Amino acid sequence: MKKQKVLVTGGAGFIGGNFVQYMVEKYPDYDIYNLDVLTYAGDLTKHQDIEDQPNYHFIHADITNNGTIQSLFESEKFDYVVHFAAESHVDRSITNPEIFVVTNVLGTQVLLDAAKEYKIQKFVHVSTDEVYGELDFDPTTFFTEETPLQPNSPYSASKASSDLLVRAYHETFHLPVNITRCSNNYGPYHFPEKLIPLTISRVVNDQAVPVYGDGKNIRDWLHVHDHCTAIDLVLHKGVNGEVYNVGGHNERTNLDVVKTIIRTLGKSEELIKFVEDRLGHDKRYAIDPSKLEKLGWTPIFTFETGIFQTIGWYLENKEWWEQIIDGSYQTYFDLQEK
Ligand code: NAD
Ligand code: DAU
Repeated sequence: MKKQKVLVTGGAGFIGGNFVQYMVEKYPDYDIYNLDVLTYAGDLTKHQDIEDQPNYHFIHADITNNGTIQSLFESEKFDYVVHFAAESHVDRSITNPEIFVVTNVLGTQVLLDAAKEYKIQKFVHVSTDEVYGELDFDPTTFFTEETPLQPNSPYSASKASSDLLVRAYHETFHLPVNITRCSNNYGPYHFPEKLIPLTISRVVNDQAVPVYGDGKNIRDWLHVHDHCTAIDLVLHKGVNGEVYNVGGHNERTNLDVVKTIIRTLGKSEELIKFVEDRLGHDKRYAIDPSKLEKLGWTPIFTFETGIFQTIGWYLENKEWWEQIIDGSYQTYFDLQEK
């Protein structure tokens, strides 16, 4: 029987990387193709334990290059696409929006064209709750799949644009798609420019932790493992054309998150440094995941168990995030090629 071929874009990044490892281990009878151009956020050292597995394959390619992507789909005959590749950091989108439009909008359209041309069985587009904009602090309000799209940052506007293209390829060409919209992920291999890994690495090194504004903004945290199980479910059971929100009801203010990490590491709250607020800083995100739960999804981590596991992982894997901070991870691929 032909092995199923799953193309994962952005599999050298944080969530895509965790998803690639999850799929390689869970489905030895699938071939998993990790396609990544290796921007600053792409790191292959995380895959040292799976890189020799017969069902793992790496493709060094750019999703915005139409010719390359078309030839790849022609030669490899992928069955499924799970699309993570993106520029993902809101702060970077405020200083340099252009690359967000190129990668997140154009890159998605290039993949959709290839998926249409080569008749893939499912295209899962990994999006974000940020496309819905922000909620106020009323704890009874949540983002549902019907919430209107009102993105506030160049990052979320580029993701919303890509969501609309995915929807359009379903409506116009009947491409079998799903869109997932997830809340803030955290866990192993989270790039240390984002709040949780940045805080852990700084607190471990007794450095100040920058908290934007008054620290009262709320995010809804989801452990990356629970995100992987959600995407696995949508890939296999998602109803074509549907959107699924992913989140585990773990709302915390940024200040709570930072204080929890400081307390767990036995350090002083004097490390907290309030700094100028992010431009257009969304107040609150909170997901209603009931549609996905009805499909069969149950997260296993609470914020307490997840943050404890994550802090433990960062303590045990200091060499991983140190090579990210000093930049040496970027030579790993070049060394392998020689
Ligand atoms: P990340 O920044 O850690 O990884 C992105 C990956 O995409 C990197 O490996 C990078 O090299 C690759 N990439 C970028 N441009 C590319 C291109 N042109 N061609 C090929 N590869 C390219 O991102 P992440 O945090 O893992 O997020 C993954 C996806 O999930 C994104 O689409 C993001 O919008 C979405 N998402 C993230 C979160 C979160 O909390 N991190 C939450 C919800 C949704
Ligand atoms: O909600 C999903 C989104 O979560 C994803 O779509 C994005 O790709 C992902 O980066 C994340 O976006 P955020 O902007 O919420 O994550 P970030 O870690 O950058 O910031 C989390 C919160 O912490 C936010 O309110 C800003 C604040 N913050 C962030 C940093 C980096 C600080 O207070 N200090 C910091 O140094």
